[in-house]
Amino acid sequence: MFTRFFKENESNSELTEELDEKNIPQHIAIIMDGNGRWAQKKHLPRIAGHRQGMDVVRDITKAASGLGVKVLTLYAFSTENWKRPTDEVDFLMALPVRFFNNFVPELIENNVRVNVMGYKDQLPPKTQQAVANAIEQTAKCTGMVLNFALNYGSRAEIITAVQNLAEKAQKGQLTPSEITEDVLSNAMMTANLAPYSDPDLLIRTSGEERISNFLLWQIAYSEFVFTDVLWPDYKPNDFVMDIVKYQQRNRRFGGLKEENNK
Ligand code: FPP
Repeated sequence: MFTRFFKENESNSELTEELDEKNIPQHIAIIMDGNGRWAQKKHLPRIAGHRQGMDVVRDITKAASGLGVKVLTLYAFSTENWKRPTDEVDFLMALPVRFFNNFVPELIENNVRVNVMGYKDQLPPKTQQAVANAIEQTAKCTGMVLNFALNYGSRAEIITAVQNLAEKAQKGQLTPSEITEDVLSNAMMTANLAPYSDPDLLIRTSGEERISNFLLWQIAYSEFVFTDVLWPDYKPNDFVMDIVKYQQRNRRFGGLKEENNK
């Protein structure tokens, strides 16, 4: 079934794109970039961009859940973001507390379960507590998983996974030849998202076209969409348009185009 959507700033009579509701990416990951530039353009402190970005998280979560997405992974804080000025780091660490305080009831209403991946034990105690509460409060929700990457870095994740496997090997619980793609996937922080551990679609906002240490193992076959919209300006309609771009791709997973695959 196709639903018709209209681009912002265009009259509703002008059909622009069609969304195939039967081909919604099951796992969408987003690098939410451009908060600082959004604030700068408005002559506001950078944290104003993050504050606005939090409301966008809410809107996109609702949109994704409504579309039937199974997992929405949002890059909220990287292991490299500690290098930012203390005030900004403090604000970013307070955001999950604020977000969950305000929106957990709405998440529950939408049957959305919260998951957090990253080095949680290095987060400030208040952030850890907010995360733990949100996970617990939404534990019974069976709809979309809202997966925050918080103090997450992909290379660190891979190193941790390899260390864990090496330890098992050292104890004689695993031989080198038993280390397969599945075994490594199961050692990653996304293992509990199975069967949706790997994103089908990775979106990055703000016009930057790089991966910034995000899900390097998991995006092997993901489609990438880079959009110029800054995260605080990103609307559910932009999200739908980016899904339409995904639907226009021909995913081959190393094989041949469908029409040649006979
Ligand atoms: C990148 O923009 C954004 C971040 C480092 C933080 C992302 C966080 C949010 C969008 C809010 C998260 C909300 C919750 C609920 C945890 P940037 O600051 O690098 O922007 P710039 O490249 O324009 O400077």
